[in-house]
Amino acid sequence: MEIRKVGVIGAGTMGNGIAHVFAKSGYEVVLVETQQAALDRGLQTIRSNMEREVAKNKLTAQDRDAALKRIRGGLERKALAECDFVVEAAFEKFEIKQEIFRDLDRLCRPEVILSSNTSSISITKIAAQTKRPGQVIGMHFFNPVPVMKLVEVIRGIATTDETYNRTRDLALKLEKTPVEVNDAPGFVSNRVLMPLINEAIYAVMEGVATAQAVDEVFKLGMAHPMGPLTLADFIGLDVCLDIMRVLHSGLGDPKYRPCPLLIKMVDAGWLGRKTGRGFYQY
Ligand code: 3HC
Repeated sequence: MEIRKVGVIGAGTMGNGIAHVFAKSGYEVVLVETQQAALDRGLQTIRSNMEREVAKNKLTAQDRDAALKRIRGGLERKALAECDFVVEAAFEKFEIKQEIFRDLDRLCRPEVILSSNTSSISITKIAAQTKRPGQVIGMHFFNPVPVMKLVEVIRGIATTDETYNRTRDLALKLEKTPVEVNDAPGFVSNRVLMPLINEAIYAVMEGVATAQAVDEVFKLGMAHPMGPLTLADFIGLDVCLDIMRVLHSGLGDPKYRPCPLLIKMVDAGWLGRKTGRGFYQY
């Protein structure tokens, strides 16, 4: 079966970026949200990010128009029944993904691969919610999706070689670089990145340095494009906390305990860029 039409669940930061790159690479996209306002915001972000690419001569106006026409937004999951491949990019909570994958398993043709853009939740556990665990896989994109080259392709315990190969080939068609990873809390990316961010927050909490100073150290000393606290604001502090909790409970090692300052900021609703305040004001 050739993959022509791709379903994307969730039009948030990751979901709209994923819909963007699929549509740009010639795939028909069905983008599903639960709220009209969230769908409208996601579609608007795709338009403005494509506009940015046109302004930088990375995309012609004609290709942008064609790509936008390939995206169909909606609030009904049943539209995904026509899709040949699905990427779930909903909230990072297992209960939400559990319900979605059970539903997708009922809705989608039996040969369709169901993938998750989860940043840390077990692919094996998500796959076990379906009757097709061999065809469930992690397809983890990075923010901003149109820019970042990596796709972490995560094999659950039951993922077949055919599912892996087809997902890897799909990532290549998107002009991304797939990297194969086995299922473990946080995979590779967030297993390593989140403890770095968490430790940077401890450094701020303990008064070792200001957020600005910590970020300067990483930008100038290690050539990171963003310091860890700017990056945490960019990812969302709630997402960082969710991932630290998955690492802490999944690996059972106290070295993964979330920093109390991170918890406090999330409790305050200071979630980073998306709420206008995190380690910095926006
Ligand atoms: N859509 C399309 N293009 C975009 C874009 C978007 N959303 N955002 C930026 N760009 C393009 C710009 O147009 C620009 O293009 P150019 O090279 O042709 O000029 C290029 O990307 C660089 O952007 P800017 O010049 O505006 O700004 P910067 O040079 O500061 O780069 C950045 C911005 C690419 C975000 C850079 O700061 C960066 O790489 N930051 C680190 C991002 C990162 O680490 N992401 C991973 C987060 S972890 C994650 O996603 C996993 C999850 O599970 C937590």
